Amino acid sequence: MITYENIDVVFDEFHALPDFNLRIEEGEFFTLLGPSGCGKSTALRTLAGFIDPTAGEVHIDGKRVTHLPSQRRQIGMVFQNYALFPTMTVRENIGFGLKVSGVSKAETMRRVDEIAAAVELDGKQLGKGVTELSGGQQQRVAIARALVLRPKILLLDEPLSNLDAKLRHQLRGQLKELQEQFGITTVYVTHDQDEALTMSTRIAVMNKGRIEQVGTPQEVYMRSATEFVCNFIGDVNRLAAGTVAALAENARGARGTGGLDARAPSYLRVEKVGLHTPDEVSRGNGARLMLPGTVLSRQYHGVYSSYRVQLAGRDQGVVKGMLQETGHPGFAAGDPVVVGIDPADVLQYEDARAETEQAVAEPAESAPMVAEGSR
Ligand SMILES: Nc1ncnc2c1ncn2[C@@H]1O[C@H](COP(=O)(O)OP(=O)(O)OP(=O)(O)O)[C@@H](O)[C@H]1O
Ligand SMILES: [Mg+2]
Repeated sequence: MITYENIDVVFDEFHALPDFNLRIEEGEFFTLLGPSGCGKSTALRTLAGFIDPTAGEVHIDGKRVTHLPSQRRQIGMVFQNYALFPTMTVRENIGFGLKVSGVSKAETMRRVDEIAAAVELDGKQLGKGVTELSGGQQQRVAIARALVLRPKILLLDEPLSNLDAKLRHQLRGQLKELQEQFGITTVYVTHDQDEALTMSTRIAVMNKGRIEQVGTPQEVYMRSATEFVCNFIGDVNRLAAGTVAALAENARGARGTGGLDARAPSYLRVEKVGLHTPDEVSRGNGARLMLPGTVLSRQYHGVYSSYRVQLAGRDQGVVKGMLQETGHPGFAAGDPVVVGIDPADVLQYEDARAETEQAVAEPAESAPMVAEGSR
């Protein structure tokens, strides 16, 4: 188990992590997610012992390690740029840490072979110089080099970001399988929300050195705690004032919804937008609000198409939705379409300005104002 307690990291006068608090459980695949410069690497490097925090404490398994040298923390780390030794072979790279700690030649040989097999590097590749390998193979060497020392904790800082999309997807799956097989507590840094959603046990979404939300992938996606998280994760529509007003009117007194605030910033995930032909709409719609519109554009993605729709009502704006490419013939630009929205799917947040004014008067409530039906 890892805890950060009131950690503060100051560079010159800049607080990169002002009062950082986090608890990571044993065996978790925990991801720090956020935009460039939000402090992900700083948080990871503080845990690794490469950064001495200005204030606060770091604990690993109940032991204070805040100022303990990196090599005494039983941590393995993999960097974005691999950081391999270019003049050594693959085998020498992977075995380096074992050699330094005085493990016998035979034992080193055995352990390198074992870990190489786990990350799918074969005997021929082990004999090559690291510069003769592809990016994906070099990344496997870097992962093997960290794992061979059997660390208690594995830290990965954007390890896949230098690879092409296909290889990134493949290694993502393999890395997750390795982590489960070894049961190793892993802290993973990425700015890629898709990577975070697919790999993690839990995610901390960071913004400007602060944690906005900690939760499972489902929690941060379906119940984004703040407007920032809602925008950063996934693809989302910010609903126009006219659409929110129509939804609030429709949801009034409806069963299963706690009502909607007509003036609050409101969002709807693109996959929650129903797209129907005018003919389909006559069948029962439940609590859904049906809004007529016209297709502005279609983007074909193979598995699905995404659409931009101009809603017809006053101030109702444009919404983006998607349809799977299975069976449904889809729509073309100019087609009439009816957009179905369930008020329970709408995510609402307090107005940022109202929040600031309120904060002066009373402690801020961090819970999202989500319509009851979506809980
Ligand atoms: N050694 C340093 N000296 C001064 N400022 C630093 C140092 N390291 C990081 N910073 C600053 O701290 C902030 C957080 O940096 P950090 O590298 O942790 O961000 P990050 O979330 O990892 O970003 P990226 O996704 O681009 O890697 C940035 O504003 C950065 O400029
Ligand atoms: Mg970084």
